[in-house]
Amino acid sequence: MNPKEKAAQYAFEKIEKKFHKDFILGIGTGSTTNCFIEILKEKKPEMKCFVSSSSASSDLLKDAGYIDAELNDVGGPDIYVDGADEVNSKFELIKGGGGALTREKIIASASQKFICIVDQTKVVDRFGKFPVAVEVIPMARSYVSRQIVAMGGRPNYRIGFLTDNGNQIIDVLNLNFDVPFETEGRINKIPGVVENGIFSARKADYIVVSDGAKTYEL
Ligand code: A5P
Repeated sequence: MNPKEKAAQYAFEKIEKKFHKDFILGIGTGSTTNCFIEILKEKKPEMKCFVSSSSASSDLLKDAGYIDAELNDVGGPDIYVDGADEVNSKFELIKGGGGALTREKIIASASQKFICIVDQTKVVDRFGKFPVAVEVIPMARSYVSRQIVAMGGRPNYRIGFLTDNGNQIIDVLNLNFDVPFETEGRINKIPGVVENGIFSARKADYIVVSDGAKTYEL
């Protein structure tokens, strides 16, 4: 098994006993999450339904016979499982490499617990290597970019990409990460920003890391 598969396996074993007929799973997006979905397809734990952050993950779980629910129709998932692009020791995350950050943050926030699964390369002392994805209403893209430049950031328009919400993504480098919580809030106050990929207000509750040789919780 590779590190992503091992992290997914550890997370599954951690929550395996929590599945039951009324259980609602929140599921994220990405290659590590796909490893977790593969385990679900094999083990087939019982659940009422799932809520997904992307059509890609929905399709995989529907194929396995699980019911795809709208977040509006369920109270909120018991557990949300998802990967990340960077994680720190405070359980804060950078997410959005796949562009599904807004749905991911909504479902993570609505969930009782959030288990993040990553390989060792995602663990950092300080955020900043991976750009922060900012989802913007298309007409506001240039304005938001200028505001981000004024904050010291270096915005880069993700050309040819539309989110599942019909919006555009600006990937931003050179942000100040002294206090990620403040940067998250500051970006979200710019009119036209839908959401950004800093997960500090809603951090992970558990982070499972694997380097292949060992798998552990941060
Ligand atoms: C999707 O928008 C992201 O937040 C992913 O969760 C993140 O990019 C992790 O992806 P991988 O598991 O493929 O590295």
